[in-house]
Amino acid sequence: MGTGKGYGKTILFGEHFVVYGLPAIASALGAFTTADVEVVEGSGFTVDDQRPATPGYKEMKYDQAMQAVTNVINHLKIDVENQKLEISFAGDLIAASGVGASAAQCTSLARALNETFDLGLDDERINEAAYEGEKAYHGTPSGIDNTASTYGGLIWFVRNLSGGKNTMDRLQSPRKMLLVIANSGITASTAEVTADVRRLKEENPERFEKIFGEYGKLAEEGRKALIEGDIATVGCLMNQNHRLLQQITVSGEVNDELVKVSLENEAVGAKMTGTGRGGLVIALAENEEIQERIVNAIEEKGYSAWRTTIGCKAS
Ligand code: MEV
Repeated sequence: MGTGKGYGKTILFGEHFVVYGLPAIASALGAFTTADVEVVEGSGFTVDDQRPATPGYKEMKYDQAMQAVTNVINHLKIDVENQKLEISFAGDLIAASGVGASAAQCTSLARALNETFDLGLDDERINEAAYEGEKAYHGTPSGIDNTASTYGGLIWFVRNLSGGKNTMDRLQSPRKMLLVIANSGITASTAEVTADVRRLKEENPERFEKIFGEYGKLAEEGRKALIEGDIATVGCLMNQNHRLLQQITVSGEVNDELVKVSLENEAVGAKMTGTGRGGLVIALAENEEIQERIVNAIEEKGYSAWRTTIGCKAS
């Protein structure tokens, strides 16, 4: 028997842009998914998914989750013909669009298999296995989610578009950032939304080039502001990033409403995070009182929200 865990994540800057080789900044969350693997007689594998989840999420993602498990098992060359794996997933990470639930699942499984079969894999190999799993959820993931899930902490990530090693720099902020994570309750398909963005980009190359240029500058400024602990600038850049995400059509009505409610309740900045068109919104709060006010306002609108702190290593 072996166990493993993978962190959830939130993307502060750069979802979607990161797919095209632009830098993004993500933070692991304190919440994680755990995997347990038991080896029994028989062949194949079973999955018992006990993760807490947004209603409908697990049902909608069922086929992808099974394929992700298969991908990780195959990548690690685990024999499932002469033995059977009983796999169970749990943990305190709420499986929802935008929180890196699929990456956390793949990472936790890779770690659990590593322990069960004494594979001696380091984080780099775990990350590679999790990336293979992620492909089941969305054909060409950038790799940011599994990287945040594997390594924890606050990271600057640039996908290597030539297929070589991606860039990952660890960032440290002198200030802890108080975030509210608001859940639209809508499960989005990352594969569909990223495919849509690709199509729109092909149809409007000049428009996208301009937006990408603006985003590139924003990412550099975001990195600087985070390192300096300049919360006001981080918030302002989050707002700008949200507008750019609206322009590439990945925000949605509920995302925009949750951003509006957050800003009306004195968030320093707010944006959708992750795939979009549902999923999650993050709002940055100056202090705990404001953080609580934002949570209450979002709950009053009928959505769930939770508090988290980032900027320090989550592991
Ligand atoms: C999903 O969490 C983030 C996206 O940028 C997809 C990816 O990076 O693979 C939308």
